[in-house]
Amino acid sequence: MSHDEFPTDRPAVVTCGLPYANGDLHVGHLRGYVGADTLNRALRKVGQQTAYVCGSDMHGTPIAVNAAKEGVSPEEFALSYHEQYEETFPRFNVEFDNYGHTHDETNTETTTSIVRALEDSGYVYEKEIMVGYDPEADQYLPDRYVEGTCPYCGEKARGDECDEGCGRHLEPGEVEDPVSVLTGNPAEYREREHRFFRVSELQTYLQGFIDRLEGTSNARNQPREWIEGELRDWCITRDMDWGIDYPGDEQDDLVLYVWVDAPIEYISSTKQYSERVGADEYDWAEVWRPPEDERSTPDSAGGGGEVVHVIGRDIIQHHTVFWPAMLHAAGYTEPRAVAATGFITIDGKGLSTSRNRAIWAREYLDEGFHPDLLRFYLTTNGGLQQDVDFSWSKFQERVNNELVGTLGNFLYRSLLFAQREYGGTPDVDVSARVEERIEAAVADFRAGVNDYSVRQVGNSAVALARFGNEYIQNQEPWNLTDEDPEQAAQVIRDCVQLAKAVVVLFEPIAPGKAEELWAVFGGDDRPVRDVTLDAALEAPAAEFEAPTEPFEKVEDDRVEELTEKLEARIEEATSDEDDADESETDEGEAPEAGDMEPLLEERISFDEFQELDLRVGRIESAEPIEGADKLLKLTVDIGHEVRQIVAGLRQLHDHEELPGTKVVVVANLEKAELFGTESNGMVLAAGEDADLLTTHGDSEPGTKVR
Ligand code: MF3
Ligand code: ZN
Repeated sequence: MSHDEFPTDRPAVVTCGLPYANGDLHVGHLRGYVGADTLNRALRKVGQQTAYVCGSDMHGTPIAVNAAKEGVSPEEFALSYHEQYEETFPRFNVEFDNYGHTHDETNTETTTSIVRALEDSGYVYEKEIMVGYDPEADQYLPDRYVEGTCPYCGEKARGDECDEGCGRHLEPGEVEDPVSVLTGNPAEYREREHRFFRVSELQTYLQGFIDRLEGTSNARNQPREWIEGELRDWCITRDMDWGIDYPGDEQDDLVLYVWVDAPIEYISSTKQYSERVGADEYDWAEVWRPPEDERSTPDSAGGGGEVVHVIGRDIIQHHTVFWPAMLHAAGYTEPRAVAATGFITIDGKGLSTSRNRAIWAREYLDEGFHPDLLRFYLTTNGGLQQDVDFSWSKFQERVNNELVGTLGNFLYRSLLFAQREYGGTPDVDVSARVEERIEAAVADFRAGVNDYSVRQVGNSAVALARFGNEYIQNQEPWNLTDEDPEQAAQVIRDCVQLAKAVVVLFEPIAPGKAEELWAVFGGDDRPVRDVTLDAALEAPAAEFEAPTEPFEKVEDDRVEELTEKLEARIEEATSDEDDADESETDEGEAPEAGDMEPLLEERISFDEFQELDLRVGRIESAEPIEGADKLLKLTVDIGHEVRQIVAGLRQLHDHEELPGTKVVVVANLEKAELFGTESNGMVLAAGEDADLLTTHGDSEPGTKVR
């Protein structure tokens, strides 16, 4: 890899894929914006000059279609979501240096000038193509105005993308058997003149580019197939009113394809930031527009700044083929890194807005949880690339174990002890051993940044707090204050330094909480947001006030309540939409499919099966077991007798609703003891969800199952 480690002497820009101004924000969005925000903050911590920019994606057919449904103009429709996003992101401590939108003046100007540059350098040509047309609606049918069949894999596809099959981008006119989404009529084809970008001529350049590209492995590897294969030219115009007019063609109904002007907003948004703070502080041109003799060539990345894109993994092709091709051809800086996030699942199933299987941004805040808790969950559960499953019970587990149990516990107990015994930081030097441990954590953080791993960034802080807990536990300063006051002061001095380092390292993940703690004992006038990693080893405040506990436990009844609420609204949405296709998710293929356990090869005899005494049972009572998050204590009537059985149903079933449910019981299983409770038998349930097996008819308890 030809890139220098961060920090470099070139300014960086971190971007996140623009949200379509087309619906409420949910945890699937937040994951990307929080991840990129964390990465940007972490870059700042290693001393990299950087800005975080984004904006709303206002164009494209889905917005035009939805606006028409609501009877408002696309602009009005998109602006209202834009305003909502602008207001919501800061509430999650997602701090953009600039948040614009693709329909503003800056972006219209930048886009126009980039398209002109492509034309001037001979990369654009005109071609007649056949496009879909709906005679009844009397309009052309670009992109999502048509649905049909993918010519590559035969699956049902949208006009611009094979979203349920092979995932390919589809060019206008490519989808087979097109049907208009406006009227349901088969579309007609009409000949129209469109503009094309000669991506096919940029193969050599793109091959070099992909070899240089940093980021997640999916973003670096997946594009090879497209780049090595037949690179096709890209149609950059659409027959629509809503969008940015094709330069020079204002009177014709041709606008630029949404995927042309959307990524250009990365540049426009940087420009707006630069104009606001002044080029002395941050110069957009230094980032995006190197002087002619320093631009990328087929063999070199060229000059400019460190451009880092965080995106969803469904838009890798746009960011690793079309976008760098455009940048290169127009003389702009190529991306240094593309980090593509995985999917979000909710309780193991694909997030689906139409099924209301989602955690909405507003809902989360309304429940009164601190944004940093969700930030922690989303950034450290899977890092950027891995899929992340969200459930309220896992959320509780992570918050209670790591934030409360490890981080909060260490910070609170050591600061409180220091404050009570010494009024602040004891006046001695940090021990060499602790200094080394902090340096190791800092190195780990730094490596995480250079690896685009926000998980590693977060874990460097958690691991340091864990060390701190062990240290204070082993040293027992509370037993030393009388016997060996010097040693006691040493231990506490070390702990306060560890606490300070933890706060510095944890700021990118939990900026709100970090800032509060910092104000108590950081001993620095700057906000922790603005300090670099050196601050981890600088002296904390000599005197400080008593801290408050930074994190609170999420209680079991909250989890139960939230899980039930979620289930209830999924149920409601699903029954509203009973003809919906079960496999549909917003985020691509159903994640469970690949995880299914393989069938066992080895067969058993009928006699072996007969050894199982399976009986119909009826649950009489069900109650939680203290200290066991997942278990319920059941009494089950199995005809001959009533059994006490412990079952792992607690997280997925409301225990109050279980009595009366018929179940299948393994009656001759050895007795066992779980959490001090005897279990005399086993209740059958399917899969992770503990979907209870019940009877179809009305067989009585005790009936043999065979
Ligand atoms: N709005 C697009 C989406 O949600 C992303 C645009 S990213 C950019 O898929 F590159 F175009 F900016
Ligand atoms: Zn396909």
